[in-house]
Amino acid sequence: MEILVSSRCDLQFLSEDYIFPEEIRPGKAAIALCESIPVIDLGDRAGQNRANIAQEILKASQEFGFFQVINHGVSKELMNDTMKVFNEVFEMPAQDLSGIYSEDPDRSCRLFTSSSFYANEDVHHWRDFLRHPCHPDLDACIQQWPDKPTRYRQVVGNYSTEVMKLASEILDLICEGLGLESGYFGGKLSENSMLSVNRYPPCPDPTLTLGLPKHCDPNLITILLQGDVCGLQVFRHGEWIGVGPVPNAFVINIGYQLQIISNDKLKGAEHRAVTNSKVARTSAAFFVSPSRDCIVEPASALIKADNRPLYRAFEFTEFFSNYMSEKGNCEVVLEPFKLQA
Ligand code: OGA
Ligand code: NI
Repeated sequence: MEILVSSRCDLQFLSEDYIFPEEIRPGKAAIALCESIPVIDLGDRAGQNRANIAQEILKASQEFGFFQVINHGVSKELMNDTMKVFNEVFEMPAQDLSGIYSEDPDRSCRLFTSSSFYANEDVHHWRDFLRHPCHPDLDACIQQWPDKPTRYRQVVGNYSTEVMKLASEILDLICEGLGLESGYFGGKLSENSMLSVNRYPPCPDPTLTLGLPKHCDPNLITILLQGDVCGLQVFRHGEWIGVGPVPNAFVINIGYQLQIISNDKLKGAEHRAVTNSKVARTSAAFFVSPSRDCIVEPASALIKADNRPLYRAFEFTEFFSNYMSEKGNCEVVLEPFKLQA
């Protein structure tokens, strides 16, 4: 438990093992950035504007791989309440935290630090995280979740149900925008979901370290609750741009599986999280993924338009194992799945 960043944030100087090589560090310039990526109003998604909304989502997914959504149907109260409970988790006394802390990567619900590769990392990330599955069987998953704070299971259970609904609605809009048969992303392609609650405590020197280094999410789509503290950045045209918090919005990003299924029409964008020296930042990523045995491949309707598939078919579990063994390295994780021209 001593390795949790939350137990070390009284450090005055950043210790050596959190200092990234110079070319990876954020440096001074990148810290304060808070710009906006497309903010899409989902309010009229059941009305006349539906086709336009689908096109806006498609455009943002092509250009940025990222967008934010407002009027998405998840209540402001539930979002605030959930964020409050997540904060309470990381503010619990050490004795309660030790009940959920685990170094065993196979434990389905656990509090840990940095990344799943802690023991093999050159540099650690300035982040603690609580991670657990939410679907397919929410009731069974909930039994594994923390029982403290006492409201955790109830509040996060409601939240997971609502966010899964939203994810399905956004996937339906993407499906329509791409011109795929209705329900394409239902079933096995979006069967699993997992919540990863990230905690980035105040950091003695944010210029030298990262909460999360550059990566692309391995799953289908991610619904991120980022609260009101800046920290998320997207890599676009060779530059890092900040994803400024928008009140009551969710940040949505395209994962590798959507990039592959869309035959590169949509892009899984590279992103990272920087830290700050003043306040703790909490974010919660809701990852929607295919089931392990799900076959993923470019959609045949989209191959026709391009003449050829850019990726071969694979079982999702194969992709995930490769992602883990390459430690998520963006330069190489897609290689084994690409087809030559
Ligand atoms: C992630 C992620 C960003 C953030 O958990 O994969 O990219 O702002 N999180 O915490
Ligand atoms: Ni991510």
